[in-house]
Amino acid sequence: MKTVNVGLIGFGTVGTGVVKTLLSKRRSLESRSGVSINLAKIADLNLRPRIGVRVPKKLLTRNVDSVIKNRNIDIVVELIGGIHPAKEIILKSARLGKHVVTANKALLAEHGREIFSLASKFKTFVGFEASVGGGIPVINVLKNSFVANDIEVIHGILNGTTNFILSKMSEEKCAFNEALRDAQKRGIAEKNPKLDISGADSCHKLCLLALLGFGLSVKPKDIYTEGIEKVSPIDIEYAKNWGYAVKSLAIAKKVGSKLDLRVHPALISLKKILASVKYEDNAIFIRGNMTGEALLYGKGAGELPTASAVVSDIVEIAKNVDDFKKSKNPFKLEFAGSVKKVRKMHDLTTRYYVRFSVIDKPGVLAGISGILAQNGISISTVSQKERKRGQPVPLVMLTHEANEGSMQKALDRIDKLSYVTEKSVEIRIEQ
Ligand code: HSE
Repeated sequence: MKTVNVGLIGFGTVGTGVVKTLLSKRRSLESRSGVSINLAKIADLNLRPRIGVRVPKKLLTRNVDSVIKNRNIDIVVELIGGIHPAKEIILKSARLGKHVVTANKALLAEHGREIFSLASKFKTFVGFEASVGGGIPVINVLKNSFVANDIEVIHGILNGTTNFILSKMSEEKCAFNEALRDAQKRGIAEKNPKLDISGADSCHKLCLLALLGFGLSVKPKDIYTEGIEKVSPIDIEYAKNWGYAVKSLAIAKKVGSKLDLRVHPALISLKKILASVKYEDNAIFIRGNMTGEALLYGKGAGELPTASAVVSDIVEIAKNVDDFKKSKNPFKLEFAGSVKKVRKMHDLTTRYYVRFSVIDKPGVLAGISGILAQNGISISTVSQKERKRGQPVPLVMLTHEANEGSMQKALDRIDKLSYVTEKSVEIRIEQ
C-alpha cells in the first residue's frame, strides 16, 4: 500500500485535534482511502505534551525547515495562523512540490491568488476546507457538489463568536461586554476578539466563498464589512418586538452581472431558519439555479470539528497524490462565471432599522422624517417608548426599501441636528 507522509506545522488546538485523529484513526483512514497516511513530523516552538494525545518524541521538532525540506514529506499542514511566516511556509512548501493543507482564511483572503497560482505552477494542491465553517464541509460542497449550478446567493452566519455574543444578548438580555466576557471564559472568543467582533473573520471567509461560488477573486478591502459593536440590547429588544432577530451575516448575492458582497449585522425575520441558529453555531445557505436553497449547519470552530476538515483535505490529497503531478489541469479556483465585478455598497437597496438618540421635544420626528423624505426614504413604523421631556430618548423606526447611498446621506445630515445626541444606528434588514 502506498504511504503518504504528512508534516504538521503548528501544534495548537486544531493541530492537536489533527494529531489525535491521524494517530488514532490510521487504520480506518487507510481502509477508506486505500493509502497509508503517516504523520511524519510535528513542528512547533512549544513542545510540551498536549492533553489527550501521546506523541512519539522523534516526531517533534522546533525546526520548521526540517518539515518543509524533508524529502519524504508529501503534505505540509500549516496551522500556525497569521500572515507571516505562514505565507512563506506555504509558498516554500509548494515550490518544493509539496501539497498544502491550511485553515488560514486571513492568509488566503489576502494572498490566495499568489498562493493558488504558485500551487498551480508546481502542480500541487492547496486544501482549505477548515478555513470556513470549521467542521461544515462548505468548501467541498461549492467546489464539487454545486459545480453544475449557477450560484445565485450564499449567505449565512460564518462567525461563532459574534453569533454567541448576539445570541446571549438576546436570550439572556445582557450587555455586549458581559456577553463577550462569557464567550472569552468559554474559549469561544479570543483574548483579543477584534478580528471576530469587527467582522474581519467573516469577511476573510466570504472572500473564499465568493471565489468558489462565483469564480471571482476578491480581497477583504472589496467587501463592505461592519462589526457588531454598534448593536445594543435595545436594538435586539426592538427587533424582537417587530418579529426579527439581529445576526451578523455574510452575504454574497448575484445582482445582474455584479456581486453584492457584505458583512454586517442584520435584522432577519424570526420565521427564517437563520434566526434560530444560535450561540456559537454557524450556518450557510447556498442557492443554486438547479438545487434551489440548501443549508449547511454546524460547528464553525473547535478542536475536533476543525481537525475533521483538515483531515478530510489530507485524505483527499493522499488519494490523488500521483494524479496531481500528471494533471494537465492543475490547481485552479477562479472561473469565468456570469459575475464580473463587485457591486458598490451605495447601490444597495434594502429596508432599514434605524435608532436615533434625540432630545424628547416637539418637532423632532418632523425634522428627521423630513430629511429622510428629502432623500427618498419612506418610513414604515416608528416607535418612541420612553418619555423624558427635554432629555435624550431613543426614537426607533423601520423604513421601506431605500437606497444605501441615500440613507448614508440622510444619516449624515440627521446626526448634525442640534437635538440628535449620539450617532444614529442603522441596521439593514435582510429579506
Ligand atoms: N473565530 C472564529 C469564530 C472561528 O468565532 O467563528 C475561526 O474562524
